[in-house]
Amino acid sequence: MSKLGIYVHIPFCESKCLYCDFASFSGAENKQEQYFQFLLNEIKGSQYKGREVDTIFIGGGTPSCVKPDYIESVLRTIKETFVLLDDAEITIECNPNSVDERKLSLYKTCGINRISFGVQSLQDETLKKIGRLHNRDMALGAIALARRLGFNNINADLMLGLPNATEEKVLSDAEILIGYGVTHISAYMLQVEQGTPLFELIRKDPEFVPSDDESVIIYEKLANFLEKNGFLRYEISNFAKTGYECKHNLKYWSGEDYIGFGLAAHSLIRGKKVDQRIANSKNFEEYFAEKKTIDKLYVTDKIVEKIMLGLRCKLGFSQRELESLGYVVKRNRNFKKFLEQGIIFEDGDRVKINPKYYGVSNYIIVNLLPEDF
Ligand SMILES: C[S@@+](CC[C@H](N)C(=O)[O-])C[C@H]1O[C@@H](n2cnc3c(N)ncnc32)[C@H](O)[C@@H]1O
Ligand code: SF4
Repeated sequence: MSKLGIYVHIPFCESKCLYCDFASFSGAENKQEQYFQFLLNEIKGSQYKGREVDTIFIGGGTPSCVKPDYIESVLRTIKETFVLLDDAEITIECNPNSVDERKLSLYKTCGINRISFGVQSLQDETLKKIGRLHNRDMALGAIALARRLGFNNINADLMLGLPNATEEKVLSDAEILIGYGVTHISAYMLQVEQGTPLFELIRKDPEFVPSDDESVIIYEKLANFLEKNGFLRYEISNFAKTGYECKHNLKYWSGEDYIGFGLAAHSLIRGKKVDQRIANSKNFEEYFAEKKTIDKLYVTDKIVEKIMLGLRCKLGFSQRELESLGYVVKRNRNFKKFLEQGIIFEDGDRVKINPKYYGVSNYIIVNLLPEDF
């Protein structure tokens, strides 16, 4: 039986960033005690009790904005309920403004060995415009502190397409972060989500952010820069020094089992015939009432998922696996065209995107899906 990855969602933030559409709430401190009580019970009652676990990802929201004792109790409960392997990767997402020496030391004592900092940018003007609570000095100070305390597996999230972004600024941010010793950089293209304050700002002033074309060029330049500096792209938005790829996220992309605890958390459990995707509710009351949505993934869903997830990663997808699900991708009329144009290539049984075309991967993926999809 494969080893499990566990995701734990902490839905609290000190304030809401202008672009953020994640299940996270500011001003909900009065719910924290009840939330953690419920979360611990959810973990204890898991039907996958006793399974071996090799990755844990505590994400949010902002896990670093709650009392570290809550985080400690979550990890203790996971250890009591599952078999946590000695070399498990245990990540926590932290905002640079909400960590200090005591908190990070406690994380270390309870086994956390990977920190993911939401840096987004090192430009103070940009950070202010998107409603972040930290500035450049706080971000760099937090990374330096984590390093001093002995964390040697550190990620920095960057966002592309933010206000005032230029190639020079983004590359300079990346260079400084590398100099501070991060081992992994995630570079996410800004998603402008309806209902967020940023959506309204851009509706009124489309030039509030750079154009998509400009952002794609910056993404390509950043990818080249990172690869030259030993950060290899192993997924469209993720770059790591060899050996520092995020094992937890690799599970999502390679289609392995994972379970999620907490508000809005998802689980994917593979079955012999049908896979199940289970999603906890995104609202506190429904989560406390154990409301979940269960989707069964049938053959077509599995084919689509394998192509989508595979092509986002440097691993690509296996033609044999797709054939076992009844889809001969070579018969898709775009397959031959993309192959001849050098947009995709075959590596044995696997099909991969030429890294030059990662910026337009969505277009490639859509055109390789089953034609009747
Ligand atoms: C869900 S957040 C949690 C981490 C932490 N709260 C933080 O923001 O620093 C994880 C990452 O998602 C990215 N993110 C959030 N909203 C996004 C959006 N609308 N578009 C692109 N990336 C986004 C940010 O880079 C962020 O660091
Ligand atoms: S801190 Fe992170 S999770 Fe919270 S609102 Fe900002 S981006 Fe979203």
